[in-house]
Amino acid sequence: MEDIKCCVVSCDKPLDAAYWEAQYEAKTTGWDLGKVSPPIQTYVDTVTDKNCSILIPGCGNSYEAEYLLEQGFTNSTVIDIAPTPVAVLKEKFKNNSNIQIILGDFFEHQGKYDLVLEQTFFCALPPTMRQKYVWKMHQLLADEGILAGLLFNRTFESGPPFGGSKEEYEKLFAAAFDFLKMEVSENSIAPRADSELFIELKKNNQVVVNLYEFEGITCSGCMETITEKLIAIDGILNVSMNSTFAEVLIVSKNEIAIQALQHVISYDEKYKIKKINP
Ligand SMILES: C[S@@+](CC[C@H](N)C(=O)[O-])C[C@H]1O[C@@H](n2cnc3c(N)ncnc32)[C@H](O)[C@@H]1O
Repeated sequence: MEDIKCCVVSCDKPLDAAYWEAQYEAKTTGWDLGKVSPPIQTYVDTVTDKNCSILIPGCGNSYEAEYLLEQGFTNSTVIDIAPTPVAVLKEKFKNNSNIQIILGDFFEHQGKYDLVLEQTFFCALPPTMRQKYVWKMHQLLADEGILAGLLFNRTFESGPPFGGSKEEYEKLFAAAFDFLKMEVSENSIAPRADSELFIELKKNNQVVVNLYEFEGITCSGCMETITEKLIAIDGILNVSMNSTFAEVLIVSKNEIAIQALQHVISYDEKYKIKKINP
């Protein structure tokens, strides 16, 4: 992709605050559109409640937040782990009480939002964190909350950005969210044309979404067997294991006792499951 270049820092480094800050310092920010993302602009134009609470995670220079302010939205929060873009935003929007600008980790952030806008944040995370993203997003959204924005519908040789597909996202978000929209975006910027999906996912507040540490799986065959055993438990609606088999996202109609989960996997004593606290 023309507009998305890999980093100056070796990509096998952890994608932590130091990594992202180095990109901003070196100005290797090929993802930065320099303007509001057109599909997000189109979406924001449909939002009628200007007082709804909105979060933009991994906001970078956040032209989306600027657009929200221009349109009269009064309750936006943006968060990024890298100090440079946060400092720029703090200066740009100083004395503006309609926006809260946070330097911090999305996964440690607490709050409740009516709307979360996704713009090249999901694809910037290591793919191992996708189940954690769904879990955290479910926690941060209010009961009728919406996650809207863009996800890549293509693969990349290396990342970030890390790609994905509609099929993968449907499995990942299943049961935790209702799918209002997941279709190829019509007005992506030219270099991303036909390679982004616009998503509008509504939090399913009738379910419990938990994340667990999982120990003992070494191959995808075992992962499939474990997944089948877990999904067969009464009340479980979706089971999604992360790509290193170290975390599993479970969506259920009600809280499932840890003993019930451990019981179905205990046919092999090396398998262990432990709930991660929010
Ligand atoms: C590819 S950039 C996208 C920035 C912005 N959304 C845009 O489109 O210009 C990904 C951003 O996510 C931020 N980021 C990565 N991991 C994060 C985390 N755990 N919490 C908050 N921000 C994070 C990075 O610092 C970076 O600004």
